[in-house]
Amino acid sequence: MNHLFFAPCPRGLESALTEELKQLGLRVTWQAPGGVGFEGELGHAYLANLESRIASRVLWRIAKARYRTAEDLYQMALALPWWQWFSEANTLRVDVTASKSPLKSVDFATLRIKDAVCDAFRTKSGSRPSIDTHAPDVRIFAFLDAEQCTLYLDTSGEALFKRGWRHDKVEAPLRENLAAGILWLSGWRPGTALIDPMCGSGTFIVEAAQMTLGIAAGGARTFGFERLKNFEPATWAGLRARARPVALGLDLLSASDVSGDAVIATRENLVSAGITREAALRIAAKQIDARFVKPNAKEGILVANPPYGERIAVRGAEDDAVFFTEFGNNLKARFAGWQCLVLTSDMALQRKIHLAPKRRTPLFNGAIECRLYQFSMVAGSTRKDRGANEPVLP
Ligand SMILES: C[S@@+](CC[C@H](N)C(=O)[O-])C[C@H]1O[C@@H](n2cnc3c(N)ncnc32)[C@H](O)[C@@H]1O
Repeated sequence: MNHLFFAPCPRGLESALTEELKQLGLRVTWQAPGGVGFEGELGHAYLANLESRIASRVLWRIAKARYRTAEDLYQMALALPWWQWFSEANTLRVDVTASKSPLKSVDFATLRIKDAVCDAFRTKSGSRPSIDTHAPDVRIFAFLDAEQCTLYLDTSGEALFKRGWRHDKVEAPLRENLAAGILWLSGWRPGTALIDPMCGSGTFIVEAAQMTLGIAAGGARTFGFERLKNFEPATWAGLRARARPVALGLDLLSASDVSGDAVIATRENLVSAGITREAALRIAAKQIDARFVKPNAKEGILVANPPYGERIAVRGAEDDAVFFTEFGNNLKARFAGWQCLVLTSDMALQRKIHLAPKRRTPLFNGAIECRLYQFSMVAGSTRKDRGANEPVLP
């Protein structure tokens, strides 16, 4: 049976997610701001949950209809056979997102959809599911636009960036799916050199190591679809048992940070992400200031997510403008032949680093608007020399 699914993702990564889902063999049908639609059987949703590194969730579309009032939403939800998908013993959460909706209150819309689901169960069986906003068994999502309401059952459960490997000891870790999306945009693929000189908890390097070793993004966690009544255990077991390509190049991965705790956290996260201790030792992880890192190959990708804001600051320089100038100088001096990418919410980075970006991609880290700067380092680059480096973008 053909179903429609929607995979939300961090804003700015929609095209990357489209490509990723196509590479997984999924039939992508549309791309919207904030996500990608695809169609297929339930097993295709299982596959996306297990393998996608960029999606935030996979939602299964169960209804779409025009509405004008909250009462229309109630009637739409009341008419659905919820008991075919889950039971009154399950706990429930409803989330509503609205864009240009004529309704005054999203909270009231949420309440009416929740009421309708509970009333549908009560009419059928005499009892109703209870609400759990923290760890529900089942999540229902509604998207309201100016005229239509689309209802989805979530197949993921916890958001997909929660891979299950993280031991958080460092501040401001990057979400795993944002890190994976940045790797995708950077053009990094297994077998290419990769350096993260401000590794924090090691998110970029852990994602890259899993990709190199063919470890599925969701291989260590459970999913919402396992709790739905139409769960197909044999399909799921088959997907989990599938062989994945394993690449060479673990020793081309290198993580460093000025903080020794971050280096330890990166090592611990690598091991809890399924990389054996022996394999993890092939990945360089050292304590060094980013202004002094050296390349580990003639060409490759450097990705950095520097600290920003009052809560965490760069260490080792009197202020971050000095730090970024010196960091930029190090890239110019040592990294000719490399693509260097910096994710930051500091809109003044370009002025501080004194490099002209080849590309500047808007991305959202949760609600925080960021820029992913890509600097293409060429031999002989000098500070702000046009021609020696790429032209300055407007
Ligand atoms: C925003 S966090 C990086 C988070 C990381 N991407 C993750 O996913 O966990 C910034 C990191 O930069 C490190 N840092 C600060 N000053 C540095 C310096 N001078 N050289 C290298 N790393 C530095 C901090 O210790 C921190 O771990």
